[in-house]
Amino acid sequence: MMVFMTHQHLTILTGASRGMGLAMAEQLLQPGHTLLCISRHANPSLAARAQAQGATLIQWTEDLAQGAAVSRQLEAWLLEQDTAGFASATLINNAGVIPRIAPLSQSDPDDLAQALRVGLEAPMQLSAAFLRATDSWRVTRKVLNISSGLGRRAMASQAAYCAAKAGMDHFTRCLALDEALKPNGAKVCALAPGVIDTDMQVQLRSAEDALFPDRQGFAGLHQGGQLSSPADAARKVLSVLARADFGQHPVADVRD
Ligand SMILES: NC(=O)c1ccc[n+]([C@@H]2O[C@H](COP(=O)([O-])OP(=O)(O)OC[C@H]3O[C@@H](n4cnc5c(N)ncnc54)[C@H](OP(=O)(O)O)[C@@H]3O)[C@@H](O)[C@H]2O)c1
Repeated sequence: MMVFMTHQHLTILTGASRGMGLAMAEQLLQPGHTLLCISRHANPSLAARAQAQGATLIQWTEDLAQGAAVSRQLEAWLLEQDTAGFASATLINNAGVIPRIAPLSQSDPDDLAQALRVGLEAPMQLSAAFLRATDSWRVTRKVLNISSGLGRRAMASQAAYCAAKAGMDHFTRCLALDEALKPNGAKVCALAPGVIDTDMQVQLRSAEDALFPDRQGFAGLHQGGQLSSPADAARKVLSVLARADFGQHPVADVRD
């Protein structure tokens, strides 16, 4: 499908169906913006919002555990676009998964693979497809990878999630070096968004105490009102993305 509009800001956003991704999608649906969302489920409220705002919205219902296929689809779609129509191009790898919370020795291999595919493989594959397909675009290009404090701090019963986010941080550092060698290299950043009141936090505080030594800490954050709302977290993340010095530090935290 071709998008014929002049000077649109193009954003590709994964995990836009709920949580912080949904809040980012809502805030990105402004006139002059084209948003391509990728999650397993579409969110009908986004379609209504896009229409009201005069923004262009495309929602793909794809499983990012099949990242190779989705990245090929993304590359083909980008190559079909009229590049003169875009003022900027951004990929936000936001989708993430915490597998069943348990020590690694009690984890299921398929569950571990799913978390690593969605949280690490797919962001790498989508970044590769996005950067290759937009390489000749003469506009600002950005890749924002939504990381976590747990990519930088180890936690018991979180090996797969911590490994996915640590891997995301480190591949983003490598990507920054790749892109710095190009004439119009993309600006890239792996950004920790703080603690946010989403399904992911429900999963953390609902884990079994016997399997998750930090469960009470997460319950305390919720009880103490210390979680950001998805809308506030999205605003902070998108304001980092909009900064002139975005990408100066390839690994960052909204709380910096
Ligand atoms: N919440 C926090 O406190 C917190 C803290 C630090 C970092 N983060 C990071 O922030 C990001 C957003 O987190 P969140 O709390 O908003 O998460 P969330 O509420 O659990 O939402 C996760 C999103 O990822 C999508 N997703 C999950 N599995 C998928 C799959 N197999 N294929 C395609 N999409 C998939 C979900 O869509 P579907 O179910 O429709 O597929 C959903 O839109 C994640 O990367 C997370 O690691 C969150």
